[in-house]
Amino acid sequence: MIIAVDGPAASGKGTIAKALAVHFALPWLDTGLLYRAVGIGVLRAGGDPDNPNIALTACDFPDALLEDPALRSEGAGAYASRVSVHPEVRAALIERQKAFAAQPGGAVLDGRDIGTVIAPHADAKLFVTASPEIRAERRYRDESADNQDANHDAILADIIQRDKRDSERANAPLKRAEDADLLDTSDLTISAAVQRAIALVEART
Ligand code: C5P
Repeated sequence: MIIAVDGPAASGKGTIAKALAVHFALPWLDTGLLYRAVGIGVLRAGGDPDNPNIALTACDFPDALLEDPALRSEGAGAYASRVSVHPEVRAALIERQKAFAAQPGGAVLDGRDIGTVIAPHADAKLFVTASPEIRAERRYRDESADNQDANHDAILADIIQRDKRDSERANAPLKRAEDADLLDTSDLTISAAVQRAIALVEART
């Protein structure tokens, strides 16, 4: 069984994908981490993420980088969004994701283009979303726990800008696959969103 979970930043898709993987006993891949690894490679080298050749040189990263907590930072996310625009970068990361999806027994993958590009024949597809204000509020709560300077308005502006870049790019933009179920988590608790996701997947499989 292949489950594709797509959606914008801070929509809850990662939490939902992880919970689905536990519930259905499937391996899980957070594909955003691959783009974040490329982004942080460029950031640490002081390179220009808008330059496709520079971004491409960062695609050959060691697996250990995927465990680095720095990948979760806003800086890595912003650079990930910029490097992920380049078709060269997407092409360099595609096989790894397709191979993960094709393993015997199935898998759960979450990202932006899983239901449209990586696993268009997935058994179940969810498009997880929430309003930009709610997503900014969630991220602000997470960040302000260990950063007193967390700025709600800056986080909201970043989310809006990232949504725009991710959904307007020519190559594999963020968009709901025609056969994906929509799951709006704006007014749901985490456990309610997970229960709903499980029910949607069960109805498709
Ligand atoms: O999901 P996450 O916020 O970790 O993703 C970081 C960035 O990586 C996204 O803003 C998006 O630009 C890019 N990405 C992508 N395709 C995916 C997963 C992430 O373009 N499948």
